[in-house]
Amino acid sequence: MSYAEVYGRWQSDPEGFWMEQAEAIDWVKKPSKALWDENAPLYEWYVDGEVNTCWNAVDRHVENGRGSQVALIHDSPVTGTVQKITYAELRNRVALLAGALRARGVEKGDRVIIYMPMVPQAIEAMLACARIGAIHSVVFGGFASHELAVRIDDCKPRAIIAASCGVEPGRVVHYKPLLDGAIAQAAHKPDFCVIFQREQEVAELEPGRDVDWHAFQYGVEPAECVPVAGNHPAYILYTSGTTGQPKGVIRPTAGHLVALNWSMKNVYNVDPGDVFWAASDVGWVVGHSYICYAPLIHGNTSIVFEGKPVGTPDAGTYWRVMADHGVRSFFTAPTAFRAVKREDPQGEFIRKHDLSKLEIVYLAGERADPDTINWAKRMLDKPVIDHWWQTETGWPIAANPVGIELLPVKVGSPSVAMPGYEIHILDEAGKELPRGELGAIAVKLPLPPGTLPTLWNAEARFRKSYLDTFPGYYETGDAGMIDEDGYLYIMARTDDVINVAGHRLSTGAMEEVLANHPDVAETAVIGVHDELKGQLPVGFVCLTKGVNRPHEDIVKECVAMVRDQIGPVAAFKSAVVVDRLPKTRSGKILRATMAKIADGEAYKMPATIDDPAILDEIAAALKTIGFARS
Ligand code: COA
Ligand code: AMP
Repeated sequence: MSYAEVYGRWQSDPEGFWMEQAEAIDWVKKPSKALWDENAPLYEWYVDGEVNTCWNAVDRHVENGRGSQVALIHDSPVTGTVQKITYAELRNRVALLAGALRARGVEKGDRVIIYMPMVPQAIEAMLACARIGAIHSVVFGGFASHELAVRIDDCKPRAIIAASCGVEPGRVVHYKPLLDGAIAQAAHKPDFCVIFQREQEVAELEPGRDVDWHAFQYGVEPAECVPVAGNHPAYILYTSGTTGQPKGVIRPTAGHLVALNWSMKNVYNVDPGDVFWAASDVGWVVGHSYICYAPLIHGNTSIVFEGKPVGTPDAGTYWRVMADHGVRSFFTAPTAFRAVKREDPQGEFIRKHDLSKLEIVYLAGERADPDTINWAKRMLDKPVIDHWWQTETGWPIAANPVGIELLPVKVGSPSVAMPGYEIHILDEAGKELPRGELGAIAVKLPLPPGTLPTLWNAEARFRKSYLDTFPGYYETGDAGMIDEDGYLYIMARTDDVINVAGHRLSTGAMEEVLANHPDVAETAVIGVHDELKGQLPVGFVCLTKGVNRPHEDIVKECVAMVRDQIGPVAAFKSAVVVDRLPKTRSGKILRATMAKIADGEAYKMPATIDDPAILDEIAAALKTIGFARS
């Protein structure tokens, strides 16, 4: 079948299409129907089915003869180790861990926070939760205590599973003090914490609260897979919105299984048994979907890579990993390729490795600039596929469906809508725009299986953030257009979310931190174009009247506050003191105009600006920190 036929088949009979895809999943009880639309515009899928994620990701492969196949390869250039775990071993490890969690009182529906680096134990912890129907929430290791505390208070975990440390190039990340700090800050206290002690740093355990990963599993009964309802939350993953309070995206169990399984062949073109590698982190949605769940559900071997594209030890690491483990399909963020290209523009490292097994490269997470795509295509002599999706959807909205057919690649476009997604470009009033015109990207409801049904404990926010602007549609928060061939182009965010090295961050959250500085009266943070990371945050602060401390000191303190409260991942290194901020007459800060000035782009003088002269002051201030490109 061609892409057009598959998409047409879904359009003409969505219910039949999704029931057919559900056949690939092992159900304890088959669902009687796919879509549940009784509470529209809130939709759910496969609600009356009963199923277990861990069974589908692990046990069934052992039952079906894949027990000795490697499920996970932990390749860690930062510790100089490689470890392989077969499906049979994975089942035993996960069943025991799940049994130990249960013995300590973790039950179906309880939340468990996981705060770990890229070690296989992070995946095992996720699967152990899934095995007993506990709802995990993984927090990215680059977030500091405050961000962790906010998540603890929002999802109220019974337990937290953490590692003693992470290893970043040149430094050990001390997870345990960050965890202790977060628990001290949070109003909610977990019953207990499980600490995986790494060789690189052993953490001190708090008696009565902390248990050792190995010791607490001693003598427990392994847990069997617990069936859950189709709409049971598989996990909560927090993502950045407009404010400092992150959004708890819920992933529904059954739709997640069906959609991810479908995507492995149809989008990523791998067959069971193939080696698949998504070079991301378990703390992000790419890590959830394409390091942990999808490859395992589909019976692939997944690589858990603990390193960076450059510097661990060099710009050839990616190619070495692909050659060593025979990767067929590879997925990363464009930033990673920009980092490699900067160090190895001629691809000399590439030629040192046998990449004959590698067929295709996929990019997502941020805009894939044509330079990077063309460079990768030239160097690797393989198709390089851009595709577009979000934490909220959990799997691609638009892609080149290589496993169905490789459509002509248009550089700059993530290609076409996947089945389940009907994409529209709307103007501010919600009117459909003609082909080729730029507008808000919206997806006609219902969203397909696997996408978020709502936000954790925040239905009103869910409706306001995604459903209210364009009734009948899901608002993606991205702006773009569709060309005459139906190819989509993603141009920008329509909100205050920025994308730094493929990491989704909220400028609003950074502003909230800066506003707490005792000398700061008002602040704005914008995303400025960066050659390597795509965007970088830059802060503007106006000081409280009468403050006359050196500006450099205040800026240094601001930078330290963001690193301390949000974490190093915010990459907040630049700020400048200004007398005032440009605003509309109604008091709205003109962040988009400021960002255009910083990027040296032409901008229209906003008609409602209260004093145009401020824009010159902003340009001058940006020059002092090396940002205004005129
Ligand atoms: N735990 C603790 N700290 C972390 C971390 C983690 N898991 N991940 C990143 N950090 C820290 C980094 O050490 C760095 O700290 P520093 O300010 O002390 O140097 C900071 O957060 C910023 O990290 P990052 O934005 O990743 O920048 P970098 O300079 O370390 O590396 C790249 C740049 C391009 C090599 C890197 O961003 C990369 O590999 N990107 C790939 C994109 C990716 O995986 N995206 C995920 C979504 S698909
Ligand atoms: P996240 O939820 O972290 O996956 O980030 C999702 C956001 O990243 C999207 O809403 C886009 O703004 C951006 N993004 C993801 N993939 C792409 C892509 N292929 N092209 C452009 N932007 C993208």
